[in-house]
Amino acid sequence: MPVQIILGAQWGDEGKGKVVDMLSEHADIVARYQGGANAGHTVCIGDKQYVLHLLPSGMFHEQCTCVIGNGVVIDPTALISEIRQLEEAGIRVRGRLLISHNAHLIMPYHKQLDVIREQTSARIGTTGRGIGPAYIDKFMRSGIRIVDLLDRETFANKLKRNIEEKNQILTRVYGETRIDVDALISEYQEFDKSIDEYITDTSLYLHQALQQGKRVIAEGAQGALLDVDHGTYPFVTSSNPTSGGACTGLGIPPTAVNEVIGVAKAYCTRVGHGPFPTEQENEVGERLRTVGHEFGATTGRPRRCGWYDAVAMQYSARINGIQRLVVTKLDVLNDFDEIRICIGYELHGKRLRSFPTDAATLERITPVYESFEGWKTSLADVKTYDQLPRQAQAYLSVLSRYTHAPLWLVSVGPRRDQSIFLQS
Ligand code: GDP
Ligand code: IMO
Ligand code: MG
Repeated sequence: MPVQIILGAQWGDEGKGKVVDMLSEHADIVARYQGGANAGHTVCIGDKQYVLHLLPSGMFHEQCTCVIGNGVVIDPTALISEIRQLEEAGIRVRGRLLISHNAHLIMPYHKQLDVIREQTSARIGTTGRGIGPAYIDKFMRSGIRIVDLLDRETFANKLKRNIEEKNQILTRVYGETRIDVDALISEYQEFDKSIDEYITDTSLYLHQALQQGKRVIAEGAQGALLDVDHGTYPFVTSSNPTSGGACTGLGIPPTAVNEVIGVAKAYCTRVGHGPFPTEQENEVGERLRTVGHEFGATTGRPRRCGWYDAVAMQYSARINGIQRLVVTKLDVLNDFDEIRICIGYELHGKRLRSFPTDAATLERITPVYESFEGWKTSLADVKTYDQLPRQAQAYLSVLSRYTHAPLWLVSVGPRRDQSIFLQS
């Protein structure tokens, strides 16, 4: 097992945190490859719950080294507070965390611009964590990287240049006040001192680890349908959560990747705006939200809820190359008399052959559903596939068949022990 990619197959919040934490038990390294503190990965251990935004979900297994790759955009404030929180909870971070020197920094003006743009022009429903504006600077080639912090003069010069431009935008376009460059320089210099020990060439580190036969999990944030290239553009995030993103975001070659594991909920959710074909803005959606506690782990926003979308999942399996499917939150469906799966899309009375990624078409399609009988019993203590009610087995097998991905793991509760592995 050289590299296993574990990614969200839908619109995020599929339960990646739980799955990565569980599988980290047998890993040497867990590496985040994209996104930033827009992610909220929940890990439940006993009666304790942790939400990770930047740190990889392997932090709770002492033998794991955790890597934040070059593809991640790092908000210093969020990083430092997360490290502190874990340390306060008795989890050792020192000596177990490595941060890529090539990762880009999120600056306060990125967050400010993210929030202002949401209020004025682009209404995507972002998390307001500065993700889009930070990736804009990265691709404009004006971004500031972790490595730039190491040289005071380079950092100050780059920052001054950027702030000059940002001040123009902030004052002239949005009527905001100017940013004070000197205060920001000292703030980030302090940050440099606190993270200096973690910074390294993580691509080289991973290369050497793989040569030694170490087992690596590449942890995705967000989900495939939020991918900037393959998702429901423009209602997407600004990075590549899909499997290809793992290589660029960590500096590892595709030939090092052994397996792609897709995590999907037994139904669908989405936070923020954008098309959501199976959304249930009714009693069903309300019930999914209440029973599944579907409120954002980062922003606390209520998540939009709907039925499992096998058309979108087939697409996700195709672009990611999903080899093993993990289905989470099956227990949330326990009390439903009838459960639905969307098995096709119709547009103007005609069946579509594939998942349309342009938002306008997706808004217009009519989902075609197949109905299943509910199992009406608790799954909280089920430990094996055979113990699952007949109706739950039938639901899972159809869901896997339509998705074109073999089912490997079923999650029936937030805790580690509420997991059912199928024979591999
Ligand atoms: P992530 O972003 O993909 O890591 O997912 P989140 O942490 O944002 O959201 C998943 C939520 O579902 C968290 O509160 C988890 O504790 C919870 N969860 C994960 N798996 C299960 C499950 O099988 N059943 C239930 N009921 N909750 C789960
Ligand atoms: P995890 O890793 C669910 C959504 C936002 C918004 C869009 C763009 O916990 O699954 P951004 O702040 O990234 O520019 O917002 O993407 N979004 C998420 N939705 N889970 C996430 O992360 C998300 N991260 C971003 O709600 O619609
Ligand atoms: Mg989340």
